Amino acid sequence: MTVIKHFNKYDATENQVTLAETFYSRRALLKGALATGLTASIGQSVAKEDELVTPKELAFSYNNFYEFGFDKEDPAKYADQLVTDPWAVEVSGACEQPGKFDLADMIAKAQTVERIYRLRCVEAWSMVVPWQGVQLADVIKALKPTSDAKYVSFETLYRPDQMPGQRTGSLDWPYREGLRIDEATHPLTLLATGAYGQDLPNQMGAPIRLVVPWKYGFKSIKSIVKIHFTENMPETTWNQSAPNEYGFFANVNPEVDHPRWSQATERRIDGSATGFSALFQSRIPTLPFNGYTEVAELYRGMDLRKNY
Ligand code: MTE
Repeated sequence: MTVIKHFNKYDATENQVTLAETFYSRRALLKGALATGLTASIGQSVAKEDELVTPKELAFSYNNFYEFGFDKEDPAKYADQLVTDPWAVEVSGACEQPGKFDLADMIAKAQTVERIYRLRCVEAWSMVVPWQGVQLADVIKALKPTSDAKYVSFETLYRPDQMPGQRTGSLDWPYREGLRIDEATHPLTLLATGAYGQDLPNQMGAPIRLVVPWKYGFKSIKSIVKIHFTENMPETTWNQSAPNEYGFFANVNPEVDHPRWSQATERRIDGSATGFSALFQSRIPTLPFNGYTEVAELYRGMDLRKNY
């Protein structure tokens, strides 16, 4: 297994987008960086830390997508039946450009970006995933939200004939999530259409999902068909189902434990431990905001123990 240097944020240029195939090669990454003049920022991040990118096979086979079942293997087993083309996204609420958009049209004008992010599930496992997509901020800007748009909510597809989990009452379907508008327009927030240099496989939330790297994974809603701008904090699936366990903000915070387990550490799924040895894999400390501390300013003055 090769080690790649993980860095918090950068906007990929076209040159870097082609690096998807070379994520496992640090030399290639640095060469690409040199070519695009990003040496300084990458240099800093290299100094910061080394992290293994989760092998694609693991990221594509260990998933939470309850529409396809509750076991981690269920989404990879059953998500193939989901039809993702054509795909439309309905935009409504406090914006000047509401309507039903073909996915390709909706993101056509936004610049493609490539980001390697940690994904920290509320269940205390984590991965490092290379995503391709667009900044949600670019899409939102084109939709021209009005001053009433204090929040953005998202909905996953409701199609029980293709999503066996939706034929059960395990959750209140469709899956719903939301962000405050400043969170949604933060440059780290992505609408991902790909991972590991290929289109998102269905189990990862094809054809378009949210990725909010400083929040617990459940905020990163998959297979989005609705975007709604609203003045009031929207209801979200997990918050509604267990408000004392899952807050609206859900920022990764090692100091606020889940009522049933500690959030101080996490099990990193990086392929370094397999089979029996994985049972004894050492845990790593969980970082405030999952390490993306540049977002702390969004919450200045807020009590993050109360607004968990
Ligand atoms: N989106 C939908 N529609 N349904 C889900 O069950 N699970 C969430 C999130 N998005 C989920 C979802 C949870 S709990 C996590 S941790 C991440 O997706 C997992 O993303 P991954 O399977 O790509 O790692």
